[in-house]
Amino acid sequence: MVKAVVLGASGGIGQPLSLLLKASPLVDELALYDVVNTPGVAADLSHISSIAKVSGYLPADDGLKHALTGADIVVIPAGIPRKPGMTRDDLFKINAGIVQTLAKGIAEHSPKAFVLIISNPVNSTVPIAAEVLKAAGVFDPKRVFGVTTLDVVRSETFTQEFTGQKDPAQTVIPVIGGHSGETIVPLFSQAKPAVTIPADRYDTLINRVQFGGDEVVKAKDGAGSATLSMAYAGFRFAQSVIKAAKGEKGIVEPTFIYLPGVEGGDAIRKQTGVDFFSVPVELGTSGAEKAIDILGVVTDQEKKLIDTAIQGLKGNIEKGIDFVKNPPAK
Ligand code: 2OP
Repeated sequence: MVKAVVLGASGGIGQPLSLLLKASPLVDELALYDVVNTPGVAADLSHISSIAKVSGYLPADDGLKHALTGADIVVIPAGIPRKPGMTRDDLFKINAGIVQTLAKGIAEHSPKAFVLIISNPVNSTVPIAAEVLKAAGVFDPKRVFGVTTLDVVRSETFTQEFTGQKDPAQTVIPVIGGHSGETIVPLFSQAKPAVTIPADRYDTLINRVQFGGDEVVKAKDGAGSATLSMAYAGFRFAQSVIKAAKGEKGIVEPTFIYLPGVEGGDAIRKQTGVDFFSVPVELGTSGAEKAIDILGVVTDQEKKLIDTAIQGLKGNIEKGIDFVKNPPAK
């Protein structure tokens, strides 16, 4: 039995993500929580003839508690999206508080669940959730993930013209660092099967992966940021976590984790100087079972990108931790 919960289920990412989870044979029970519209979204999805039983909850009547109780996996896309001209960091003020509140709910009602954070800025919201869970004495670093899969998905898609693959997802491209602008580092040198990026196209390709989210924000012209591709990515990662939890072996996904708490993470922490970082992670029955160190095999060009990413990440991580430790005056 797998109970999946979506926190922020009525939003632009939450609705298509909930649809994908409802359609998945891996999910037996699906609980949807949001501040508005969840009864409607749940009623709509409940007519789909798939396995999962769907229920919708609002904050009233202990809705968060009922949604979370018994959860195996909690996916959090809750929060506000970007408008043109905004960076993910501009969302911090509002989304930080939302993630903090939801993490408190998880600490209380589903401390053993896998927690997948999509709410931006991921580089700061994951440290926020970790701090909240730590303060409650229930932080298990193997179970808390920042979802960076959209950067992997974009890398696969944007590289297709150089791989010649009909299905872009057949090329595995590790993406490390964080989930925002220059903190996103695709490692094309590690692609499998190998791919050659022409030297005069490299910078443009890197830039497109790092700032791919901005393309969508601009095209949506004030109506938000990536929702459908993000839902696809969030679902793809959730599916991997569930499959690994059910015992499937050999599943590796890049994800933003707390390095000191995952086997292999300390060596990466020593090299990067940051506690949170995205690397390919071997998933298993207990979650993030092993962080795979691929920093030693990168090219000089990639090394420079990693150094820049680390500088950006330091501030983002600090900001998240500080938000919990020294709450802003209300
Ligand atoms: C993106 O990368 C929404 O953060 C998401 O577009």
